Amino acid sequence: MAGTTTTSAERLRVVADEAGGCTRCDLHERATQTVFGEGAPDAALFLIGEQPGDQEDRQGHPFVGPAGRVLDEALEAAGVDRSNVYITNAVKHFKWTARGKRRIHERPNRTEIVACRPWFDAELAIVSPRLVVVMGATAGQALWGPSFRVGASRGTERDFDGRAALATIHPSAVLRAGGDAGRRAQMDLLVEDLALAGRLVARMPGGA
Ligand code: URA
Repeated sequence: MAGTTTTSAERLRVVADEAGGCTRCDLHERATQTVFGEGAPDAALFLIGEQPGDQEDRQGHPFVGPAGRVLDEALEAAGVDRSNVYITNAVKHFKWTARGKRRIHERPNRTEIVACRPWFDAELAIVSPRLVVVMGATAGQALWGPSFRVGASRGTERDFDGRAALATIHPSAVLRAGGDAGRRAQMDLLVEDLALAGRLVARMPGGA
């Protein structure tokens, strides 16, 4: 309609509704629901993880389970307010395998990652952040292809489609690390990278 402007929040809602019925790959058959991105619709900082986990699949929100608690803790330690960022996943349906009564996370494959890409592209175009923070190998491979490795890439600013991006470890790497010292070391890396992200955004035009 002439003269009508839609906000980013409204545009995200339209895409989220569409994604709710996504059948672009087989993962929708076993997942409870599509878990779309959430957060500030015009965020300067845009975080992308792998895929919803068991809790996210049940609740319908990204990063609300154990990895989400690690992320919350790391954001707080890095001085980044979660309510000011947009958080999404490379793959929007939970991929799992049954082990007894438990649903165990399974890594999405290339076909599933590629099938889900249009949703991420739409979120990125609408939110139009100043910096994209890529958490873990799956998200990195979704953006930069299968040769992406977190270890070689984390902590240095790089380009994604003409936009500034920064790779870091996935919060679940903290949960998987062995022993208190191992977990602390992984947490330190995550906090360091998120703090760097906060500083980079603040220095960019329009930053705080
Ligand atoms: N791990 C992810 O990558 N994303 C979530 O939303 C939860 C766990």
